[in-house]
Amino acid sequence: MNILIIGSGGREHALSWKLTQSKKLSNLFIAPGNAGTSELGTNVDLSVSDFEGIGNFCIQNNIEILVVGPEVPLVEGIHDYFESKPELNKTAVIGPKKMGAQLEGSKKFSKEFMERHNIPTARYKAFTKETLEDSFAFLETLSPPYVLKADGLAAGKGVVIPDNIEDAKKELTEMLANSKFGAASQEVVIEEFLDGIELSVFVLTDGDSYKVLPTAKDYKRIGEGDKGLNTGGMGAISPVPFATNEFLQKVEERIIKPSVDGLKKDGIDYVGFLFIGLMNVKGDPFVIEYNVRMGDPETEVVIPRIKSDLVEVFAAVGNKTLGEIEFKVTPQTVCTVMAVSGGYPEAYEKQKVINGLNLVTESTVFHAGTKIQDGNVVTNGGRVVAVSSFGSTKKEALDKSYASLKKISFDNMYFRSDIGFDL
Ligand code: AMP
Ligand code: GLY
Repeated sequence: MNILIIGSGGREHALSWKLTQSKKLSNLFIAPGNAGTSELGTNVDLSVSDFEGIGNFCIQNNIEILVVGPEVPLVEGIHDYFESKPELNKTAVIGPKKMGAQLEGSKKFSKEFMERHNIPTARYKAFTKETLEDSFAFLETLSPPYVLKADGLAAGKGVVIPDNIEDAKKELTEMLANSKFGAASQEVVIEEFLDGIELSVFVLTDGDSYKVLPTAKDYKRIGEGDKGLNTGGMGAISPVPFATNEFLQKVEERIIKPSVDGLKKDGIDYVGFLFIGLMNVKGDPFVIEYNVRMGDPETEVVIPRIKSDLVEVFAAVGNKTLGEIEFKVTPQTVCTVMAVSGGYPEAYEKQKVINGLNLVTESTVFHAGTKIQDGNVVTNGGRVVAVSSFGSTKKEALDKSYASLKKISFDNMYFRSDIGFDL
């Protein structure tokens, strides 16, 4: 089969790595890809939002499966575009249509969805500029800290958690009246703070049946001990030790089944990944957010644990026969540690030569922000490489990743040395 992956991060490199292990793969293309993906397939110079360019490429290259990595093209309707063109109907799109992608594209839509289908989540209300005064009154009914979420996509920055009411009111004014996040904060969801420990579950569905993928825990803050600014993710571990079978059964009964059934009841034909961010509150799961794609760096620990042939799995999603295939996962632990450019998530420099990548033998290096320049692999983003390792324990996996990171270097390289510290 010929497959095109859309995106350019560690997630897309990890998907490429897994797909190239399949005998069923003929040609793999990645648009736009990075230095890592160029070793596994052919990078194609197309932007993720260039639907016409992507569509034409699929026709010319007989692409049978299009795997959409990031959320933006899904929210913008890439799947709807493919469906609207008869000549593209042969390409199965792994990723929901615009309507389903609203689960990530609009916090309000996702809260209403959960409410409608009785899916446990924090109590909330949504407000606009016109109802700013009412939003202050709603704050008074909650206790601190306060969770404020811009309704739309804000590149992972749209959630603010002030710990006193004065700051919460200031922040609400910034978001609603002063358009802090542009159109994304025209509406803001205020919700109750859930006190617990976070983890994520991932589901792959063909719209009818589903497979539950391994759990993962992501480390979002730049600093050790979970301090400092939020990032896209500094490391991850799978499985999550506190996600016991009993807890996961609650997740499946109370959250996964009602989510998949809810989409069906609402007439939303949802095909692709559903990433559910959860809070474990004293043993009970609550949904913090839905994403309509895989996480990054969660993919770099979840995908390596899948034993089944991913080309077969994606083909079954496309044919709506996912329920008929067996889905196998290794019990081994996989961890990943992200090396980033100094300064990230604020300003940082690019185009630093990365040394030592070929010295790594005990881990797999998934490229995030890299490119090839004058024959060298150089940095091309804040998050640069994710170093993933298997282990029979969390410690063994982490030790391998940290040993491998000692062999890699670039100017101003930084990574957290405490991934997994809280588990
Ligand atoms: P998001 O950008 O939606 O992933 O949210 C960012 C982070 O805010 C999450 O990873 C949580 O740590 C935190 N968060 C979001 N909603 C809540 C909530 N209701 N209670 C506590 N923390 C939350
Ligand atoms: N690592 C968090 C995300 O992909 O949204």
